[in-house]
Amino acid sequence: MEIIRIPRIMQDTSDDYVLRGRKIGFVPTMGALHEGHLSLVRRAKQENDIIIVSIFVNPIQFGHSEDFYKYPRDIEGDNEKLQREEVDIIFMPEISSMYPEGFLTHVKVEKISERLCGAIRPDHFKGVATVVTKLFNIVKPDRAYFGQKDYQQTVVVNQVVKDLDMDVEIIVCPTIRERDGLAMSSRNAYLDKSQREASIVIYKCLIEASELIKSGIIDAGYIKKIMHERLLKEPAVSGIDYAGVYDHTTFNELSEINGDLLLAVAVKIGETRLIDNILINVKRKR
Ligand code: PAJ
Repeated sequence: MEIIRIPRIMQDTSDDYVLRGRKIGFVPTMGALHEGHLSLVRRAKQENDIIIVSIFVNPIQFGHSEDFYKYPRDIEGDNEKLQREEVDIIFMPEISSMYPEGFLTHVKVEKISERLCGAIRPDHFKGVATVVTKLFNIVKPDRAYFGQKDYQQTVVVNQVVKDLDMDVEIIVCPTIRERDGLAMSSRNAYLDKSQREASIVIYKCLIEASELIKSGIIDAGYIKKIMHERLLKEPAVSGIDYAGVYDHTTFNELSEINGDLLLAVAVKIGETRLIDNILINVKRKR
């Protein structure tokens, strides 16, 4: 396993693979790797010749008051895990080589970046779309792997690829959960014991909502109300950024349940912001 830190060297290395007809599978991450990240690596390994994982805590996708400085970092642990998965290259650039002085260009996806997480974190998806574009130009992957856990991110990235004619296939992989249902996340490390116990309310709330929908309820406003009540009943939940039923492509809030739906939640447990979602399909006869 090779560690590359310089974008130019990564590009030359990828050019070489491309020339030799090798397919490159790419997993972009911010490190502090867990089984969710590793599931993407394993899927990438099944479908490509060369596996490249990037580890870069991208400052421009964090707001000023967010957790960039305390975001968990575990370089040694990450290296070990990726070595065990037989990853070929870790791309680990410095901030100064990704955003040198004089950096001026950003990628902004309209509308879908402004909903849900984007409504609460205004420049978040601009930061994500920009870094993913840069990483794709540096790593030159044939396929890139993302988790459904960050569903809105996958939709934003797909939009960038489509609008900017990028020659990359985006593969969305299922959310990996702890045994009790909590979606794995690097930020789960912030939770103390009682917060960790309380955090299962997020997935429970999504499952209960999907069961109500399957039982025939068509009023999405009612589902939203039940979801909010369920979350607020848990004293460790210190705030709800959003919770409800959304169109899975526009992220507009729905009033009636029909077709492909996104059930999504973003809450704060203490100071820690956690998100989760499930996609469901409901066919109602009209
Ligand atoms: P990060 O939060 O490190 O996540 C890297 C990838 O792992 C993302 O595609 C994310 O959706 C996926 N992932 C995280 N938890 C998961 C889980 N429990 N199950 C399945 N997949 C999971 O997302 C980012 O980093 C950044 O925004 C990035 C795309 C790297 C751009 O900076």
